[in-house]
Amino acid sequence: MERLLVTGGAGFVGANFVHHVLAHTDVTVTVLDKLTYAASEESLAGLPGDRVELVVGDVADGHLVDRLVGEHDAVVHFAAESHNDNSLDEPGPFIQTNLVGTFTVLEAARRHDTRLHHISTDEVYGDLELDDPARFTEDSPYRPSSPYSAAKAGSDHLVRAWVRSFGVRATISNCSNNYGPWQHVEKFIPRTITTALDGERPRVYGTGHNVRDWIHADDHAAAVWAVLERGRIGETYLIGADGERSNLDVVGDVLELLGRGRDEYDLVSDRAGHDLRYAIDATKVREELGWRPQRADFATGLAETVAWYRDHEDWWRPHKAATEAAYAARGQ
Ligand code: NAD
Ligand code: DAU
Repeated sequence: MERLLVTGGAGFVGANFVHHVLAHTDVTVTVLDKLTYAASEESLAGLPGDRVELVVGDVADGHLVDRLVGEHDAVVHFAAESHNDNSLDEPGPFIQTNLVGTFTVLEAARRHDTRLHHISTDEVYGDLELDDPARFTEDSPYRPSSPYSAAKAGSDHLVRAWVRSFGVRATISNCSNNYGPWQHVEKFIPRTITTALDGERPRVYGTGHNVRDWIHADDHAAAVWAVLERGRIGETYLIGADGERSNLDVVGDVLELLGRGRDEYDLVSDRAGHDLRYAIDATKVREELGWRPQRADFATGLAETVAWYRDHEDWWRPHKAATEAAYAARGQ
């Protein structure tokens, strides 16, 4: 593999993947990204210009996607609308990008017989009870709760259908909650850090007992590369790093890292349909592909992430006020 097409590579997880690929392989990367509000060209700045090219365009643009897919050896498909709260306000873009966009990529991969890896989420499996020892596996039933997760679930089904019916050479991975540099301030950890840096009180939805299974975005990137290189066609791999934490624990840790009291937060109205708990059993990707998270110590990763946002205020500051205004309109 010499030429890799990365859709959504100017977003949070995609950009971390592009950095990982540039640092650990010799491949050249073309990023196809629409540069929505969630994207950041700065996240790709400083990477060697002879190995990374940004094409600004829509993943649902059939002509553009067909040309680009035909010019590359493999595609990693990250492009999506990604925020649950936005999907509750306005589901339309989630249907268009996550479903029609994935269909467009699949049709191009079919025409050109190009290897495809589809990036998905653990949210397609719905949620688990707080006191349930179970974790999601590749055999868990699909039970999405939000327009975002339902559209991602639909995209997974499209990929499996194109593998079975048309022989498209695709794999899928479903990962848990990522954190790390370049994550938009609308998401929980960056919102909490930047709100606390501003001396304000972070907002916690509902009771705050909801649990997410945190993984550093660089560990996710390494797992995606392992699947792309060594994964079996048609297979799904769950990716997680045993990072279960309640939202209250995460907010308390961030506040403490910034020298504030652990309880200096406000409980606000809950997200509609709010999933209680996610948890990943990553046995398959560990045993079959030999992947291991290198940054599974959440305390260290969170401290580094807090430091990153403290040092990169020029990056997040322009988006903070508008993001908070949207939250205020929802009472959150
Ligand atoms: P993000 O919102 O930060 O980035 C999404 C990127 O996709 C942006 O750069 C945006 O401009 C681009 N994009 C959106 N619509 C597009 C379109 N129509 N055409 C081309 N580009 C478009 O999202 P993220 O958190 O980086 O998530 C990326 C992928 O990873 C998604 O598929 C998401 O479902 C998946 N995922 C994310 C997480 C997580 O915790 N963030 C966990 C598991 C899976
Ligand atoms: O599990 C993987 C998913 O993780 C990805 O598929 C999504 O793209 C990604 O956005 C993320 O979804 P979540 O909904 O879990 O992430 P979010 O950062 O929006 O919220 C994390 C938790 O924190 C969730 O329980 C809601 C809560 N929350 C969020 C915000 C923004 C708060 O309590 N307060 C907040 O201010």
